[in-house]
Amino acid sequence: MKNYPLLGVRVSTPTLELRGATDELLDQLADLVRAGKTHAEPAPYDDPMSFYETDPDLRVAKWLRAIWRRRGTVEPGAWRLNFVVMVDGLPVGEQTVSGADFSTLGTVTTFSWLSVDQRGRGLGREMRSAILHLAFEGLGAKEAGSDAFVDNHGSNAISRGLGYQPNGSDWATRQGEPALLNRWRLTRQDWEQHRRDDIQLHNIEACRAALPL
Ligand SMILES: CC(C)(COP(=O)(O)OP(=O)(O)OC[C@H]1O[C@@H](n2cnc3c(N)ncnc32)[C@H](O)[C@@H]1OP(=O)(O)O)[C@@H](O)C(=O)NCCC(=O)NCCS
Repeated sequence: MKNYPLLGVRVSTPTLELRGATDELLDQLADLVRAGKTHAEPAPYDDPMSFYETDPDLRVAKWLRAIWRRRGTVEPGAWRLNFVVMVDGLPVGEQTVSGADFSTLGTVTTFSWLSVDQRGRGLGREMRSAILHLAFEGLGAKEAGSDAFVDNHGSNAISRGLGYQPNGSDWATRQGEPALLNRWRLTRQDWEQHRRDDIQLHNIEACRAALPL
């Protein structure tokens, strides 16, 4: 979208591409949301989360509304970039990066999901590596955080493997029930130990200019 640079950002790796979540791409990705391919056991998402909605039409509507609300909020206190994960030209998941008081703190948090039939072959780790490259190299972040319920072995393994350090724990609810979250922190220095030279950022200058960094 030529008039809105935050939707024009792309991050490419040898196996996947993160593309700014335009409505056209979200419309394609919605087929996976409608089909329930965001699901995982044990439940990985903290409340409130549209993916727990059982009615497929309402699930898609709630998911889109949450994305649009966040898209419309670009302020020093809070912003989020939302990406559709593309493999071989097809949408397979979603990846976000968010800043809260970023210009003061320099910290970001990330969130992602991958279609159930695409898991277990390294794409989750690759998506996280891509978004960290955008955060540290593209946006100049000082630190990235991630949370995952203690029984979310995939997400916790990715954080551990990419050099995050444990940063305590916290309680949250999932589908109304309390559960413990692991908190993880990746400093710029630790990211530098794992940084990749095969990840490319596209249209990043216009994005930097449009964000309150
Ligand atoms: C979390 C998620 C993105 C991981 O994606 P993935 O492509 O399956 O993960 P990868 O194949 O890159 O695996 C990364 C690591 O996690 C481990 N892993 C993945 N799934 C696992 C599982 N179910 N149990 C144990 N380990 C697992 C892999 O062995 C690998 O470990 P290693 O780096 O030590 O070899 C995916 O499972 C998902 O979408 N889950 C539902 C949503 C979610 O949990 N989002 C994040 C938190 S809210």
